[in-house]
Amino acid sequence: MKLKTKNLLTLAELSPKEFVGLIDESIKLKKELKKGGNKPLLKNKTLTMIFQKPSTRTRVSFEIGMSQLGGYAVNLSSNDMQLSRGESVEDTAKTLSRYTDCIMARVYDHDLLEKLSQHATIPVINGLSDAFHPCQILADFMTIKEKKKKLQGIKIAWVGDGNNVCNSMIYGAALSGASMSIATPKGFEPDKKTVKEAQKSTKIKLTTDPIAAAKNADVVVTDTYSSIHNDDPKRIKKFLPKYQVNPKLMKSANKDAIFMHCLPAKRDQEVTSSVIDGPQSVIWDEAENRLHTQKALLASLIRA
Ligand code: CP
Ligand code: NVA
Repeated sequence: MKLKTKNLLTLAELSPKEFVGLIDESIKLKKELKKGGNKPLLKNKTLTMIFQKPSTRTRVSFEIGMSQLGGYAVNLSSNDMQLSRGESVEDTAKTLSRYTDCIMARVYDHDLLEKLSQHATIPVINGLSDAFHPCQILADFMTIKEKKKKLQGIKIAWVGDGNNVCNSMIYGAALSGASMSIATPKGFEPDKKTVKEAQKSTKIKLTTDPIAAAKNADVVVTDTYSSIHNDDPKRIKKFLPKYQVNPKLMKSANKDAIFMHCLPAKRDQEVTSSVIDGPQSVIWDEAENRLHTQKALLASLIRA
């Protein structure tokens, strides 16, 4: 499948068919890998990765993913680039476009990604910004599809900070026909524009009541209260104890509800150890699925 969009910065660039298609393709690639290996779909293709912030899953899954498809990835910390000495984003984008087939960047400010994509002649993928984390959501919806066998009609409860991952999950819900109930303290709601856009195609409900949000949910999700771009320790007090995912909150959800977290997690802060390490948690499948979805995404953007 070839995507219509050149870049993936938010998820809003995708049609519902493309979003669901990417997930199905990821499931196929996963099966193929487990049967002995993937075909070299990206032979001689290269990916350049720019990291302004730390990463474990995103970096490793993109790099290994390229290699499993016969391609090659170059990893750059932005501190090692001339970008850190004032070279413009425009010149960086134009230079990289002459060497490589795709750029994946993890940045503080989402605007930098917009600029990079405007000046690059090759696809640019958002590997996390202060506003969105689209690649995470591909893996999350792949995991939901594997566990629940469908996406349409699935009820997702988001509890905690209405952050970058939450914003992208809202787009994921809109693209797949899932619904979301989002419980955050006042002042920590997800991006208004994203919510409004998504509400045109699905049910997105905002509340301050986590137990009500979790009611009848098929999936319960949370994320850290202190994102890399926003890690003031004082924030934590605004969330605890009310917005912690714990056994009582999980009881409000469906009996067979799954628990998800993009990781890294702070155990016994946003989620108790009993839940994240308990039988409803699917966090390791979710983390693994980053690998399979990165590959489907890369193949759909840069395959010849
Ligand atoms: N979930 C996620 O993006 O993890 P990393 O920060 O380790 O890449
Ligand atoms: N919301 C977190 C996600 C990390 C993968 C952050 O931005 O740091």
